[in-house]
Amino acid sequence: MPDQAEPLRRMIQEKMVFTSPLRTRLVAVASGKGGVGKTNIVLNLALTLAAQGKKVAVLDGDFGFSNIDILLGVKPEYSLQDVLDGKITLSKALMTGPYNMRFVSGGAGIATDDSRSQMAVSRLSKELQTMDGEFDQIFIDFGAGFGALTSEMMRLCDELLLVVTPENTSVADAYALLKMMTVRGSVPQVYLVVNRVPSFVEGAATADRFKLVVGKFLSIDLKLLGYVMEDTAVSRAVNRQIPFIIGEPQSAVAKCMHQLAKNSYSDLIPSMIEGGINEHGIKAFFKRFFNRNG
Ligand SMILES: Nc1ncnc2c1ncn2[C@@H]1O[C@H](COP(=O)(O)OP(=O)(O)OP(=O)(O)O)[C@@H](O)[C@H]1O
Ligand SMILES: [Mg+2]
Repeated sequence: MPDQAEPLRRMIQEKMVFTSPLRTRLVAVASGKGGVGKTNIVLNLALTLAAQGKKVAVLDGDFGFSNIDILLGVKPEYSLQDVLDGKITLSKALMTGPYNMRFVSGGAGIATDDSRSQMAVSRLSKELQTMDGEFDQIFIDFGAGFGALTSEMMRLCDELLLVVTPENTSVADAYALLKMMTVRGSVPQVYLVVNRVPSFVEGAATADRFKLVVGKFLSIDLKLLGYVMEDTAVSRAVNRQIPFIIGEPQSAVAKCMHQLAKNSYSDLIPSMIEGGINEHGIKAFFKRFFNRNG
C-alpha cells in the first residue's frame, strides 16, 4: 500500500530524471572537539572558491553558537533557525557576502529532541532540494558535539569535511565522532583537514596516524584534503571581522586555503560527473533520506 510520502517520492524521482545534470555537492563540516577552526576554515575556503567563480553557500548549522555573521561583521536578518521553523525559505534567508558567496547564520536554540529534529531534517531537505544545481557546493558548518539533528544531517551529506588539530584531544574526539557515526549507520566520504599545524611535517604525521587508525578500526577510507598552518592572521581576522583571505591574502593561512580549494577539485575528490548522477548532490541526499525512512 502506498504510504503518505509516496507522491512526494514519485515527484522527486521524476524530477531526478528530467532536471539537468547539475548537481550541488553537500559538504558537512564537523569536528569532535569544539574550537578547532571549523568556522574560520569553511568561511575562508568558501570565499576562496567563490573568488574563483564557484557558486558557494555556507549554512551555519551551529545552532548554539552561530558566528559566521560575526566573522563577516554583518548583522543577519534571518537565520537557519527561521528556515527550519518555516518562517522563510532558504533562498530568501541567504545573504550575499564577498565574491557573491551566499550564507545564512545559525540562530540559537534549535530543538535537539528527536521528533523536532526529525521535522527540521525534513524541512531542510525540502529547502535544499529547491537549491539543487544553483550552487557548486553548499557547506553546512555543524557545531561541535553530536546531537540527533547533527548526526542525521551529516549522514545525508555527500562529504564530511572533518577538522582536527594535532592535539591528542582533538584527534581522539574526531575518532569518537566517526565511531559514533559508524555505530549509527553509514558515513559519507570523509575528507580530513589538519588545522593549526606548526609545519607540514607535523600535519602529515597527524594525518597519517589518524588515517591509519580509522582505516584499521572503523574501516573508513579517509582522504586528506590538506593542512592549515598555525597563523596569527586568524585571530586578527576574527577581531577585525574581516576574513583573512580578504584582509591578509598573502598570509600563510590564506595560501593554505588556496591549496584546500585546489584539492577540493582535484582527482582527490571523486568527479561529480563521472561519479554517478544519483550518488552525489541534493538528489542523492533525498534518495538517502527516503531510504533511511524505509
Ligand atoms: N590556523 C589557525 N591559526 C591560529 N589560530 C587559529 C587557527 N584556526 C583557528 N584558530 C583560533 O581558534 C579559534 C576558533 O576558531 P573557530 O571559531 O573557527 O573554531 P570552530 O571549530 O568553528 O569552533 P566551534 O566548535 O565553537 O564552532 C579562532 O578564533 C582562532 O583564534
Ligand atoms: Mg564554529
